[in-house]
Amino acid sequence: MDPQASDLLENIRQQFDTLPYPHFPLDATPKDIPGQLYLHSLTNPFYFRDRRIIDPTGRLILDAGCGSGYKSLSLAIANPGAQIVGVDLSDESIKFARQRLQYHGFEQVKFHTCLLEHLPSLNLQFDYINCDEVLYLLPDPIAGLRAMKAVLKPDGIIRVNFHSLFQRAVYLRGQEFFAHLTESHLPTQAERIEQVRVVMRSLKAEVFLKNATWKPIYETDDARVLTNYLLQGDKGWTIPQFFSALQETELAFIGMVDWRQWDLTQLFESVDDLPIEVVMHLSETSIADQLHLYELIHPVHRLLDLWCGHPTPPSPAPHPATWSTAAWQRAIVHFHPQLVTPTFQEALFAAAMQLTSFDFNSHLRLSETPVTVEGSIAAWLLPLSQSPQALPALLHHWLQLKPIDPITLEPTLQQTALSAVQSWLLRLESAGYVLLELRDS
Ligand SMILES: C[S@@+](CC[C@H](N)C(=O)[O-])C[C@H]1O[C@@H](n2cnc3c(N)ncnc32)[C@H](O)[C@@H]1O
Repeated sequence: MDPQASDLLENIRQQFDTLPYPHFPLDATPKDIPGQLYLHSLTNPFYFRDRRIIDPTGRLILDAGCGSGYKSLSLAIANPGAQIVGVDLSDESIKFARQRLQYHGFEQVKFHTCLLEHLPSLNLQFDYINCDEVLYLLPDPIAGLRAMKAVLKPDGIIRVNFHSLFQRAVYLRGQEFFAHLTESHLPTQAERIEQVRVVMRSLKAEVFLKNATWKPIYETDDARVLTNYLLQGDKGWTIPQFFSALQETELAFIGMVDWRQWDLTQLFESVDDLPIEVVMHLSETSIADQLHLYELIHPVHRLLDLWCGHPTPPSPAPHPATWSTAAWQRAIVHFHPQLVTPTFQEALFAAAMQLTSFDFNSHLRLSETPVTVEGSIAAWLLPLSQSPQALPALLHHWLQLKPIDPITLEPTLQQTALSAVQSWLLRLESAGYVLLELRDS
């Protein structure tokens, strides 16, 4: 490693030894943060790629650059029965992570002080690697990607992210500004953090850096000042840079982790009003280019956060929207495992009994908008809240609940019921609450 890179690593180590990240107290639980366990559930990447519901039991998960272990804890809670291993270059972070997992009763989670670049020395192969908020700090991110690929099982998945150059630009310039000011003197981190505060206070309100970034919380929260204005090694990337890094390391893109928030078509009032040539062009554009077009005009995501894996994964099952009627007969329907809690089951039961509307989003927050069903649909979905159901059973249940067609007042036709069932399931599937799996024929 060249001396500059090893100096940078040493600075990073010192930074996180002094203030392990995130700086949440030991008793903080990810159960209190909406969507946190969903984000770390292995169900999502494997379902997205393979349309299979995987059992987390016995799966080996790596939290690469685990910091103070908060995401390791999220992974442990979200994936019951999985084995978790965390590594980080900062010894103090590892100590904190170990304490955190012990505090929450996960004694069996293993932590190692180890450089990401040295992962192969663990002699382990992982089903899933979570590398969250780390890659952008590495002197050589390509070496980091290669090291993760080397310890990934053939059908394993890596979640990895990079700061967005476009969204993060103002902070990156701020970091360069403060690096000039604080480099030569002020030995301690606490002094550097305080200097940022003094300088920001004394800037005029209209100065771009202050106007665009400074928040009251920075006056008291050291960790936020550190990670935004003084972060050692921070870098921003664009989508094309990320894709070319995947190409260089022969890793295949699977999808964006928050893929519902990266839909280019959603940025238009109505795609129908666009000139036909533009619609044609967009529909023929590759995924990578669509994501790049998105970040060019709407760079709201701080992280370019994606799943990738070996280039020869199992061939994906087709999307349910394209299934034939025969395929639908083989479908097994699941509620997302993170949705099914006793509170959810009780609330769905109450909505079914009282025929009141039911909002999925208030039980598992996956978007800004409510995802509601009326009481009779809640009643139809009740069996699903107890266990996965085969499609024919759900169809039968629909016909029992709605035996008469409200328009013709004749007995409901099988085909009408099937169309209604498919349409509800596809709607709930695209919102993330229902998972549709094809049983082998
Ligand atoms: C911003 S923190 C993220 C921590 C954790 N992944 C999370 O999201 O909560 C970055 C972590 O990466 C670790 N790190 C940075 N470079 C590393 C490297 N080359 N090898 C292993 N860990 C590294 C740091 O010590 C720090 O704990």
